[in-house]
Amino acid sequence: MLNIALPKGRLGERVCRMFEAAGYPCPGVLEDQRRLVFENPAAGVRYFWVKPSDVPIYVERGAADLGVAGKDVLLEAEPDLYELLDLELGRCRMAVAAPLGYRDDGDRTLRVATKYPRIADRYYAGKGREIDIIRLNGSIELAPLLGLSDVIVDIVETGTTLKENDLAVLEEVFPVSARLVANKASTKFKTAEIEQAAERMKGQIGR
Ligand code: PRP
Repeated sequence: MLNIALPKGRLGERVCRMFEAAGYPCPGVLEDQRRLVFENPAAGVRYFWVKPSDVPIYVERGAADLGVAGKDVLLEAEPDLYELLDLELGRCRMAVAAPLGYRDDGDRTLRVATKYPRIADRYYAGKGREIDIIRLNGSIELAPLLGLSDVIVDIVETGTTLKENDLAVLEEVFPVSARLVANKASTKFKTAEIEQAAERMKGQIGR
């Protein structure tokens, strides 16, 4: 049996359809919004719906053999696991954004609002820029509008949220997409099953 952590939400639904098309169907998995565990012993699969940012924890600790997480979530959590495959879904970018016309004059500590403190830390450490991180859990775009921060570090997908709030991308940090990840011990003990799952998922990319 393969235990798979799926990220709740729109990306997770697409990923789940990909697993089903890859030969791991599970009746009801996309229908019931409240149930968290679904299994299909005949297909050798058990799915868990988890909060997207928690996927690395489930996989790293072996509660799940496989999982799907965005590159943003993985670079923030830096879990000890294997990244098997870029599923080429959920594409967006990590970016620095600020109010239109903003320029960093570099002479005082930059106030950065973000859900991704480690990514922001590493990015600005690499540039030698001193920052003060303001860690938020959502609606990050609000911070510079209220003077809580100078800039934000966040994911940008269509750019609509920035545009609607008179913000613009200042710098691109890295591209993001969904990755298939595996627990290290599972990879040792369920080698054939995991290799087969990765191979079958690879066959579904871009379909
Ligand atoms: C994410 C992200 C941006 C938005 C970007 O927020 O934090 O706010 O999506 O998408 P766009 O470029 O297509 O507008 P999410 O919807 O996850 O909600 P949040 O505010 O709770 O982080």
